[in-house]
Amino acid sequence: MKVTVVGAGAVGASCAEYIAIKNFASEVVILDIKEGYAEGKAMDLMQCASLNGFDTKITGSTNDYSKTANSDICVITSGIPRKPGMTREELIGINAGIVKTVSTSLVEHSPNTIIIVVSNPMDTMTYLVHKTTGLPKHRIIGMGGALDSARFKYRLAEALEAPISDVDGMVIGGHSDKGMVPLTSHATRNSIKVSEFLSEERLNQVKEDTKVGGATLTKLLGTSAWYAPGAAVSGLVQAIACDQKKIFPCSALLDGEYGLNDLCIGVPVILGRKGIEKIVDVPLSAAEKAHMVESAEGVKKTNGLLEL
Ligand SMILES: NC(=O)c1ccc[n+]([C@@H]2O[C@H](COP(=O)([O-])OP(=O)(O)OC[C@H]3O[C@@H](n4cnc5c(N)ncnc54)[C@H](O)[C@@H]3O)[C@@H](O)[C@H]2O)c1
Repeated sequence: MKVTVVGAGAVGASCAEYIAIKNFASEVVILDIKEGYAEGKAMDLMQCASLNGFDTKITGSTNDYSKTANSDICVITSGIPRKPGMTREELIGINAGIVKTVSTSLVEHSPNTIIIVVSNPMDTMTYLVHKTTGLPKHRIIGMGGALDSARFKYRLAEALEAPISDVDGMVIGGHSDKGMVPLTSHATRNSIKVSEFLSEERLNQVKEDTKVGGATLTKLLGTSAWYAPGAAVSGLVQAIACDQKKIFPCSALLDGEYGLNDLCIGVPVILGRKGIEKIVDVPLSAAEKAHMVESAEGVKKTNGLLEL
């Protein structure tokens, strides 16, 4: 199993580290445009191998895509992150050009690959990868909901004063502060609906804290977060590589599902060796449905800024 991670920055390196620690991939190639940067990150990570007990071979490349040839899975994290006060949508100008060039080069060298898009604005960048590469839709996956759901579970556990392992919940919709749809109607504590434990007011607070989860960290860190994003990507890569058939909310190209068409947005999917093996239809409350429609409008508006 060969995995390429484009972008050796905060998220790319964290993602490569988690993939290596989980020890399911034979090879990880990290590629960056900055001279020597990916090689340096790869060497540093390889020097963790004997300490952390993994056998994954990690190599770096400065923009040489021949090193990525025949990758089973490629992750795109290249591009600029948010600074405090910025929205993800504001990154489109620079990131669209980067994602277009990177996805074209990846597919040239790995025509059978599955691509996971991380760069923001992620739903629009995932749509752009579809338009640029023309790969079948089950082989292009946007990562946002897996991270937003982890943040939702963190906030739920905090409100419930419960261990996170007791909590389950999912965030669908667009990967933006306004677009996220945390599914409180489906969230549970050990299979009991969380509404049995929390007031509507407290649940609304959990929802709001989840939606600004990224912005809260960006304000604290001065740039966007990387540990949980890296861990979330590695979860998707592992589900595909190990054919786990796990359900994650991912940005997928919709063709009528959830009443939506011709956009990529977060919906629950089953991930296995083929990529997106099924989009799962979840019954939504009237408020969640309305929020999903509004979220889709926001994503389409950002897609409209693309020069296709
Ligand atoms: N989808 C999500 O949930 C999520 C979460 C966190 C961050 N992000 C996004 O991921 C992206 C990366 O964030 P980061 O914190 O790692 O940023 P970073 O600045 O630490 O790293 C980005 C890396 O991309 C490299 N790069 C730029 N252009 C390139 C090109 N053409 N080819 C190869 N490499 C190139 C840069 O040299 C840099 O090393 C940002 O767009 C950020 O908004 C998304």
